[in-house]
Amino acid sequence: MSTPLAIVGTGKMGSLVEQLAPEHGFEVRARFDVENIAALSRESLNGAAIAIEFTAPAAAPENLRRLAAFGVRTVCGTTGWYDHLPQVRNAVAALDTALVYAPNFSIGVNLFIETVARAAALFAQHPEYEAWGWEIHHSAKKDAPSGTLKKLAEEIRAAGYTGLLTLSANRAGAHTGTHEIGFDSPADTITLRHTARSREGFAHGALLAARWIAGKKGVFEFREILNELGRSGAPSAAP
Ligand SMILES: NC(=O)c1ccc[n+]([C@@H]2O[C@H](COP(=O)([O-])OP(=O)(O)OC[C@H]3O[C@@H](n4cnc5c(N)ncnc54)[C@H](OP(=O)(O)O)[C@@H]3O)[C@@H](O)[C@H]2O)c1
Repeated sequence: MSTPLAIVGTGKMGSLVEQLAPEHGFEVRARFDVENIAALSRESLNGAAIAIEFTAPAAAPENLRRLAAFGVRTVCGTTGWYDHLPQVRNAVAALDTALVYAPNFSIGVNLFIETVARAAALFAQHPEYEAWGWEIHHSAKKDAPSGTLKKLAEEIRAAGYTGLLTLSANRAGAHTGTHEIGFDSPADTITLRHTARSREGFAHGALLAARWIAGKKGVFEFREILNELGRSGAPSAAP
């Protein structure tokens, strides 16, 4: 039997999540966008106790608080709102519900972040190397640099790399998303790069998280549950 699901944000990502939801055992029972989000209620959720939220940086914190108030467990892919994470965390804890969030729900990007963190720990031992981070996305993307590039920079620092690290971002056309981290010395250049082929990898990752979140309590970053998803033999996130 399919699990009822609510989609909050019916743009590029929300539409793709809806299209792929049946493959993950979900039936989309409620859809919210700018027009009807004010009418979010137990009735309009139409039996959905799990939601997937892909909206906009300014909208996500309030949406997450309101979904938590109805006891809805939510997977949030919206980026650019993490300054509000402490307040959202408190709301989710106070209401005994659950949230999984990530700047990037692609399995490959999360493995890439791990790879970069491990590389940074190695380069941290060799001060002749300086680092850069770069990303490119489609021109409609609202935040820059991307949440993923900020996360990569955070992990590089957390791994103990204290040298120069400059970040840059481009916006053009329909680009689905490329992230690159490089280390450069007088002798050579090492480049690590992830290129998304389509948005489907993000949508599958969000749906895997939505399956996982049932019965859970607390706030989790997708990365924290990734190994568990891998071990459970979850379907491939490849498009
Ligand atoms: N974590 C990941 O893996 C991942 C992957 C891709 C994208 N993203 C992020 O996800 C977000 C959405 O991306 P997208 O490509 O789907 O953008 P999009 O095509 O612009 O869709 C966003 C949708 O949210 C709607 N919306 C705005 N405010 C809302 C509100 N208060 N309540 C409900 N709906 C609202 C928008 O409506 P209007 O068009 O009427 O404004 C639009 O339909 C962005 O932050 C993006 O960076 C994350």
